[in-house]
Amino acid sequence: MKLFTKVASILGLIGALAIASAQTAPVSEQQAAEAIKFRQADMDMQAYSLAPVLPMLDGARFDAAVMLKASSRLAVMMEMLRDVFETNTSVLPLKTNARNQIWSDPLAFELQIRDMQAAVANMASAATKGDQLATLKATRTVVNTCRTCHERFAVGLK
Ligand code: HEC
Repeated sequence: MKLFTKVASILGLIGALAIASAQTAPVSEQQAAEAIKFRQADMDMQAYSLAPVLPMLDGARFDAAVMLKASSRLAVMMEMLRDVFETNTSVLPLKTNARNQIWSDPLAFELQIRDMQAAVANMASAATKGDQLATLKATRTVVNTCRTCHERFAVGLK
């Protein structure tokens, strides 16, 4: 039954993505420019949210409250991630670092978003417990997950 639920949810996901890509409406240059602005803003706010915890990864004094604040801010940015990448801007010659695969392989991108959401959730739960080692480890996973997505879906970003 559990396996069935899992299979059903994966099939549901594939179905939803197929419908989403089949319904892609043409976008104007102005709509695409707006979409790029908002997704880059989401990314900039992710960097802003993460910045205060980075020194702790290099040995600065651990502060669970700072970790928790960063993880809840990141969670907000993650909640919007799917929406801010919804508009397929690859059809227009606009300046962006986003790769076309985001829209040509939506399942791979969706899985990347889920990885990121899971990493942030782990960081939040470790920080809530005040568990220093677990929080640092989870935060490193968050940073690595940013990088993995950039390697696969963005041009020229670390
Ligand atoms: C699911 C994939 C994905 C994840 C996860 C992700 N990014 Fe990004 N990021 C992108 C893509 C794609 C772009 C390029 C967007 C564009 O130029 O349109 C980008 C761009 C950026 C930029 C440049 C924004 C700009 O103004 O041009 C920064 C900074 C950034 N990401 C930081 C982060 C940080 C920090 C994390 C982790 C906390 C993160 N990203 C996680 C996909 C991701």
